[in-house]
Amino acid sequence: MGETALKNTAAVILAAGEGKRMKSAKPKVLAQVLFKPMIDWVLDAAETAGVGEMCVVAGHGADMLTEHIDGRCDVAIQERQLGTGHAVMQARNFLLSKVPEDVVILYGDVPAIDAVTIADSYSRHKAGGFAVTVITARVKEPFGYGRIVRGKDGGVKRIVEEKDASDEEKRINEVNSGVYWFKTGALLEALEKIGNDNSQGEYYLTDAVKAVCDAGLAAGVYELSDPSLMAGANDRAQLYALNCDARERIFASLMSQGVTITDKSGVTIGPDVTIGRDTVILPGTIVRGRTVIGEGCVIGPNSLIEDCKLENDIIFNASQAYKSRFASGVTVGPFSHIRPNTVVAEKVHIGDFVELKNSNIGVGTKVAHLTYVGDSDVGKRVNFGCGCVTVNYDGVHKHRTKIGDDAFIGCNTNLIAPVEVGDRAYTAGGSTITKNVPADTLAVARSRQENKEGWVTRKRSKKS
Ligand code: UD1
Ligand code: CA
Repeated sequence: MGETALKNTAAVILAAGEGKRMKSAKPKVLAQVLFKPMIDWVLDAAETAGVGEMCVVAGHGADMLTEHIDGRCDVAIQERQLGTGHAVMQARNFLLSKVPEDVVILYGDVPAIDAVTIADSYSRHKAGGFAVTVITARVKEPFGYGRIVRGKDGGVKRIVEEKDASDEEKRINEVNSGVYWFKTGALLEALEKIGNDNSQGEYYLTDAVKAVCDAGLAAGVYELSDPSLMAGANDRAQLYALNCDARERIFASLMSQGVTITDKSGVTIGPDVTIGRDTVILPGTIVRGRTVIGEGCVIGPNSLIEDCKLENDIIFNASQAYKSRFASGVTVGPFSHIRPNTVVAEKVHIGDFVELKNSNIGVGTKVAHLTYVGDSDVGKRVNFGCGCVTVNYDGVHKHRTKIGDDAFIGCNTNLIAPVEVGDRAYTAGGSTITKNVPADTLAVARSRQENKEGWVTRKRSKKS
């Protein structure tokens, strides 16, 4: 997007509100939409649009929020929540030190605002030569929002809050989204002029818009074509509504890119997931984090994939995977669990009730049933029988297991790590392998079977 165009801009993101009605121990902006904190949606949108510098105004739960932001951008503290105008004033030092030409005001609890809207409204702001551009929407139910009062010339004159509006003003259905572009100089000057003489005793940022207009500077409007982009969340029901909206937007976008969703039931795809064409998503599937899925895969039903990379033509059935990579042609499941740092090569088959962790699995290897492979490097075309275990933990340390190409691990083998099984080697079923197995060798590590002939007959005749 407009990376260079918006270089000389900054964003101030208001996030000091408590969000009492969320009934949460966390600040409101950390509440999640599609498994992503709302504040991250807003920061990502501003960053994607190309905004140069960002400052979050924190208040309630500022410590937790600052920790979450983790140095990604500036944080200003608003000790007491005295209104949106007062909140922006707390970013004064940020604005004076970064000296952006223009600044966009965003809310940390309005996550649907997107990069396109930020960049597009900026273009309008610059093209019109405006000192302030208010992002507005026309809605059926304007209740609660600030109303846009236009002058005789059709331009914005001021914004009046619900609680301060006359009956006539309340009928205006053009509302303030709370997002604005300001020329930085005009904003800082206007903020000096605003007071708190209103029904709520707050310093309204909307009064800064009036101050700019009163100073004879040009004010513009950018109308949202989709009013749902300005929806915020004050309670869990509204948070649910944001989730639903965001989810549908993602479905629409994925379908337009050639992804099939057969039934939306229980399907959630996060905003930072990419999925290739001809991939099918089945019910009950959650894909989140920075997951990338290629083409022609079938994912689900009932699967969870987080921060993974899947190449093409993968079948991933009723299983879970975290922070792992799968090459093309892999099949997984049902009922397997792939834990972080696992790298699965082409055409590997992971069957049912298999757990993999921190391991590399070579091309064409089969781990079909009831097996745990952890901290292991497994070669190509290895076959695991049913019920194998890499015994990687001695109670203090984790150890690695190494298995060569074309090895055959018999059913119910325990591989006591650290241990190596050579290329083409076999372990006999039921073996507990404690010593390395050289290449081309069969290791039998179990006691020999003894048959006591006639034992049952003798036992029975004693009884009678
Ligand atoms: C504000 C606008 C209103 C607009 C609406 C859109 C004002 C006076 N009114 O109203 O015109 O239609 O947003 O949603 O600006 N915040 C702080 N510190 C404060 C106060 C608020 O950080 O002292 C943050 C809140 O956490 C929230 C945002 O600013 O993220 C908006 O505050 P909120 O109280 O929801 O504003 P509204 O009264 O809804
Ligand atoms: Ca609000």
